[in-house]
Amino acid sequence: MSQDGPRGLARGLTNYGDADFALYLRRSFATSMGYSKAMLARPVVGIAQSASGFNNCHRHFPELIDAVKRGVLAAGGLPIDFPTISLGEVFLSPTSMMFRNLMAIDVEEMIRAQPMDAVVLVGGCDKTVPAQLMGAASADVPAVQLLAGPMMPMAYRGERLGACTDCRRFWAKYRAGGVTSEEIERIEENLATTAGTCAVMGTASTMASIAEALGMALPGTAAIPAVHADRLRAAEASGREAVVLATTRLRPSQIITQRSVENALRVLLAIGGSTNALIHLTAVAGRVGVEVSLRRLNTLSDETPVLVDLKPTGQHYMSDLNAAGGLGAVLRELAPMLHLDCPTVTGQTLGQRLAAEGTWVDRDVVRPLAEPYQKVGGLVALFGSLAPGGAILKRSAADPALFEREGRAVVFSSLDDLSARIDSPDLDVRPDDFLVLQNAGPKSGYAMPEAGYLPIPSKLARSGVKDMVRISDARMSGTAYGTIVLHVSPESAVGGPLALVENGDRIHLSVNDRRIDLAVGDAELARRRAALPRPATPPARGYAKLYMDHVLQAEHGCDFDFLRKA
Ligand code: FES
Repeated sequence: MSQDGPRGLARGLTNYGDADFALYLRRSFATSMGYSKAMLARPVVGIAQSASGFNNCHRHFPELIDAVKRGVLAAGGLPIDFPTISLGEVFLSPTSMMFRNLMAIDVEEMIRAQPMDAVVLVGGCDKTVPAQLMGAASADVPAVQLLAGPMMPMAYRGERLGACTDCRRFWAKYRAGGVTSEEIERIEENLATTAGTCAVMGTASTMASIAEALGMALPGTAAIPAVHADRLRAAEASGREAVVLATTRLRPSQIITQRSVENALRVLLAIGGSTNALIHLTAVAGRVGVEVSLRRLNTLSDETPVLVDLKPTGQHYMSDLNAAGGLGAVLRELAPMLHLDCPTVTGQTLGQRLAAEGTWVDRDVVRPLAEPYQKVGGLVALFGSLAPGGAILKRSAADPALFEREGRAVVFSSLDDLSARIDSPDLDVRPDDFLVLQNAGPKSGYAMPEAGYLPIPSKLARSGVKDMVRISDARMSGTAYGTIVLHVSPESAVGGPLALVENGDRIHLSVNDRRIDLAVGDAELARRRAALPRPATPPARGYAKLYMDHVLQAEHGCDFDFLRKA
């Protein structure tokens, strides 16, 4: 629809060949819901809400949406909420990643199909915010992102626990025999105790920070805990802002630009953010025709230090970042590197926003640019004969002692093979080996699960080994840590070099040189390629077919080829 076209309920009328009748019919049905004529004449603010009984992170959304409605009504708009797909991270099979694009299609089409002048996107759990931003960017109706907010960590026997870095830490201890069955059950009840998204700088917190850095969420709202009253005030303010957007018609494509995406990349690096967020930001940017280059990422990463001391890279939780000054404190430190002229959803530029804010900061959590937590950015892209299209390492959460290594490959051909053999006493594995997982990429049939955090073989874990080089075409939870090379592209399932690795091959890793190489000759690789098994029969119908036919590799954000903007 043209940005200068009809407003409110008159938008996007069904065409019966009589526009006046179509509007009359729509109004009469809307009236059946009890709205007065005065309310129906107001600008319409849609509220795309993703509450679901299968999404623990969104369990506070009814209250949050009431607050959005309050804000819309107070500013003179008519709030109308509508459901979309929800993606509860741990409840989806084979993985939530497979359905991110389905949710993005749902969000885009429902924004476009229904009559709304602006929309508040209410999401939080890992894939929901990227899906909403992707959909809103493509629909290009004025939009503001309201985040769920993080869970609170909970005190437990002298320490604080929060999903889900601590889940992994205790599970690794349990596997190594350091925690009893009874204790791990007690811990299970104390890891995720409130509404909201994972408490650390995982994917959800990273995407919340990125939404704010892009300018799509209101200033200061990324880190407010889900259960804090400020979160409700942020919801009310987002509703008010949506009514303003309905008038100013500032669109996502004017906010998400090459420059704001670069700002978001800086923030991703400075917060030690999730590797998943790189895929999601690439997909969001692709919806407005902006490319994210992994080589550019490396340049930015060398210039942008890690400033935030949050788990899984550091010690604190997302609620601590909120108390320390929020994302604004990070943006102020990064200001010399940022494009401050980028518009934000409030109509202010990023620079105007930062100039208007207070400057208090807790230096335990957000370090100054001159005294960073780590001198270089959290992520680095690797290239080489094993990953011609690129691979990602979260160096801020890895062991630098393993960065310049050559290792012997111990190969698992699939996730099923991994689970069958990883703890076998007969597994031929040494602490300095490289664990390699094949067939866990976007087209593997597993839909790129967060399986890149391969468990340390239990016989090594029990002897005290805490980290090994692990390589795969899978993703990794943003709450995980270790020397883990992910997103290897092209993936095994499409015949990438990763598919050709065999037990005993030598692999060179050099983070300094940004390289990962398979030391096997061309003739031998050609022989192995010719012997690769035929690909599995692709799905014949439904969303699985759409996904398999169109999903792109990680460096293109795993979006569908036909959804990116040319
Ligand atoms: Fe929802 Fe982690 S499970 S954010």
